[in-house]
Amino acid sequence: MSDPFENVDAASPQMIDIIASALETRAEDTDMLPVIDAYLDAIAVGDGGHIVDIGSGTGGITRRIADRFPKALVTGLEPSTALTEKAKELAGDRSNLTFRLGDGGALDVDSDTIDVAILHTVLSHVQSPEPLVSEAVRILRPGGSLVICDADFSKAKMGVVPGDPLGSCADAFVAGAVTDPWVAGKLKPLVNTARLETRHFSVLNRVVTSGMGSMVWVRMSTARMVADGVIGQPLADALEAEYLRRAEAGTLYCVLPFVTLIATKQTS
Ligand SMILES: C[S@@+](CC[C@H](N)C(=O)[O-])C[C@H]1O[C@@H](n2cnc3c(N)ncnc32)[C@H](O)[C@@H]1O
Repeated sequence: MSDPFENVDAASPQMIDIIASALETRAEDTDMLPVIDAYLDAIAVGDGGHIVDIGSGTGGITRRIADRFPKALVTGLEPSTALTEKAKELAGDRSNLTFRLGDGGALDVDSDTIDVAILHTVLSHVQSPEPLVSEAVRILRPGGSLVICDADFSKAKMGVVPGDPLGSCADAFVAGAVTDPWVAGKLKPLVNTARLETRHFSVLNRVVTSGMGSMVWVRMSTARMVADGVIGQPLADALEAEYLRRAEAGTLYCVLPFVTLIATKQTS
């Protein structure tokens, strides 16, 4: 199965809706915000500085960045037209925030001009992360910061017993919607280029025990299995109902580690 995040516009309208809604839910999820705020706390951007969010999706995190740094210019670059349109709709009247189409492997941004480049859960969804890292380094000014935050999907778990039916949704999500579940563990060597110096590396667990934060694992995996004729809609509905039941009953348990790496571009 191919990862729909590799080319969101090629996905079905139902899948695009699931993706857009999941990205928005996650960007506001109290289980996710500490991970985002931890790296925003660690970067300094002066007035008039420029932050680029590469692979910005519907812009939920980009909006948070723009609100956090109101005197900086914030640009979200995203290859999907559908997600970029959604991001523009949701941007509101923030004067420091713009969204436009852009592929992380070939950015339409001048070299040595950007203060902070952010890749938030993008590299786990591309076949080859190296060109995206090279492009991010190219656009950064010397002394600028690259922030890579990605999930360690190799350790994604949902459920409380071996063979838990919801656990199969997590497994199916990772198998069908994550290009490289192991990329988080490869980040240090990936940025180990002559022009980058890693100054921060940490892992925080996102633990979801209530709310809709991990429902995407159920919805995306079951939608695909129904479309492929693997399961019927009644089982998909039952798995969604089971997620909701556990969220309501307080028995939901989903764990996903997030790795954050911050590196500084060296003067040549
Ligand atoms: C899981 S989403 C994350 C979106 C956003 N960063 C967030 O966390 O809300 C992955 C995003 O990477 C984008 N993407 C995929 N390939 C890309 C590429 N080559 N360059 C930039 N973004 C890419 C997808 O379109 C999608 O919006």
